[in-house]
Amino acid sequence: MRVLGIDIGGSAFKGAPVDTKTGRLLAEPHRVAITSPCPVATGLAAAREIARHFAWRGPVGIGFPGIVRDGQIGAVGNLGHGWENKNGAALFRRATGCKSYLVNDADAAGLAEMRFGAGRGRQDAVLMLTFGTGIGSAVFHRGQLFPNVEFGHIPWYGEPIERYASAAAKTRGRLSWPSWCKRVNVYLRVVERLVSPDLIIIGGGVSAECETWLRYLRTDAEIVPARMNNDAGIVGAALAAGAS
Ligand code: BGC
Repeated sequence: MRVLGIDIGGSAFKGAPVDTKTGRLLAEPHRVAITSPCPVATGLAAAREIARHFAWRGPVGIGFPGIVRDGQIGAVGNLGHGWENKNGAALFRRATGCKSYLVNDADAAGLAEMRFGAGRGRQDAVLMLTFGTGIGSAVFHRGQLFPNVEFGHIPWYGEPIERYASAAAKTRGRLSWPSWCKRVNVYLRVVERLVSPDLIIIGGGVSAECETWLRYLRTDAEIVPARMNNDAGIVGAALAAGAS
C-alpha cells in the first residue's frame, strides 16, 4: 500500500510517499520549515504544501508531536497549545484533501523501527526514545505498542525533563557531547526506574551522529541507535495509517 507519511518536528514538517510493505520511501522527502510554537494555520498550510508537492490523492499518515487518541489531539508539548483538543484527523483531512490518520510522532518512529529497523523481531520490552526539540518515547511489549507514553514530560525541577535533556537543550546550552550525555544519563536513570526495558533504541536527528556519543551512555538495558535515522517518523506514520 502507498501512503503519504508526514513527520511533524519542532523545526519542520517532512513528508514522502511510503511503500508500507517494504518501509521504503518512494521519493525524496519534501521539507517545509516551521518554528515552534507553530500556529495551527501555518502547520496545516505546511501539510497542504507537502500533499500538493506529491500531487497526493491517497491516504495520509501524520506523526504528531503530542498525545493523539482516535484522531483527537490531547496535550501538546513544543508545537504549541493552539493544537490541543482539536480533531486533528478532520483538520488535516481538510488541509490535504485526503483521508488523514494521526499517530504520536515517537509512536510512529517506534512502529517503523520495530517493523524494519533496530527492534525487528524483538518480543521483549522495547523502549524507543527520540531526541529532538523534545524527547519522544514509545513502549513495546511482544511487538505491541502501548500508545502515548510521555517520558519527555517527567517533571524535573519544575519543568518537563525534555527541557533539560533533549537535543534542543544541547544546542541551547552549547553543550559538548559528553556534557549532554551526562544529562541524558540522568534522564535514562529516571526512566529505567519507571520501566525496565530490555532494549532501548535511540532515535531522532542526533542518532545520525551516534558513533560520537552513544558510548557515553550508561543503561541497564541494551542500548542501540535507530537504524532508519530520520526516516522512521515518516515511515511509521504511513504504517499506522496503512493499518487503520
Ligand atoms: C511531546 C511528545 C512528542 C515529543 C517528541 C514532546 O514534547 O509531548 O508527544 O512525542 O515531544 O516530539
